[in-house]
Amino acid sequence: MAVLEVKNISFGYSHGTPFEITALKNVSFSLEKGELVGVIGHTGSGKSTLMQMLNSLLKPESGEILLDGKNINADKKSVKEARHKVGLCFQYPEYQLFEETCFKDISFGPKNMGLSEEEIRQRVYTAAEIVGLQKELLDKSPFDLSGGQKRRCAIAGVIAMLPEVLILDEPTAGLDPVGRAGVLEMIDNYRRQTGATVIIVTHSMDIVASIADRILVMNKGELAFNGSVSDIFTHSRELVRMGLDVPVATKIMLALRNKGLEISSDIYTLEDAAKELCFFLAKEGKI
Ligand SMILES: Nc1ncnc2c1ncn2[C@@H]1O[C@H](COP(=O)(O)OP(=O)(O)OP(=O)(O)O)[C@@H](O)[C@H]1O
Ligand SMILES: [Mg+2]
Repeated sequence: MAVLEVKNISFGYSHGTPFEITALKNVSFSLEKGELVGVIGHTGSGKSTLMQMLNSLLKPESGEILLDGKNINADKKSVKEARHKVGLCFQYPEYQLFEETCFKDISFGPKNMGLSEEEIRQRVYTAAEIVGLQKELLDKSPFDLSGGQKRRCAIAGVIAMLPEVLILDEPTAGLDPVGRAGVLEMIDNYRRQTGATVIIVTHSMDIVASIADRILVMNKGELAFNGSVSDIFTHSRELVRMGLDVPVATKIMLALRNKGLEISSDIYTLEDAAKELCFFLAKEGKI
């Protein structure tokens, strides 16, 4: 059974004003347990609005969202359950750090869940380990951490709730390549250790191409595509029309193919591009 089913949801902002806008139009998809799904789309396409629907921070105007088969907006209890089971980490989550110590900040979610002191402590340590935050940093103020450490601390706060579905809105925005790789690695750690479903919203085609099992493409409030990495990039022309791009590796391979090299352009990561080029050069007797 799907963990999360989104059925035909629509939503708009500022109804009854000149600024009225339809942010989501008849969006439907479902997520299986343990999947890592990438959500891409031009700025303003409705990605963050959609993510806030998934843990009931925003409620659809029509359609419904089922978590483990139950409507998350059915009643107060269902809403609360969705807030605990679907962990949402906003873009630049470090701006929401507010406690005196990292330990207190990470324990905020588990505390709200009414867990025992001991369970909370365990969860904080486990979450800190998953995100690679050293134990000695837990007693420090989050404001004394580096940018990358702050991001880890904020994500640990969501992970400490052990959500069944972990949603990260632009988790690597503003980080350098090392910070980016670190964040992606910890997300993968969480998924491997818990079997949770993970959704990553990103503007980076290279990130979705390298880590996602499936990609959802949003365009002007609608779900334009829902498929595997290779399915999605067969639509590269439409993607470009939506203001999106194809991964750097794909661009390189397409350019080389256009120059007459007999290589596959069905390549989405730099590792696969390197392998394909080595194979080509060996075939040509050049290496
Ligand atoms: N609180 C709000 N009030 C009014 N309009 C909003 C609000 N939040 C978003 N919108 C509008 O709804 C539409 C969808 O916005 P949303 O933030 O979901 O897009 P996004 O795909 O996450 O964009 P980005 O890539 O820039 O983060 C946009 O037109 C945006 O201007
Ligand atoms: Mg957004």
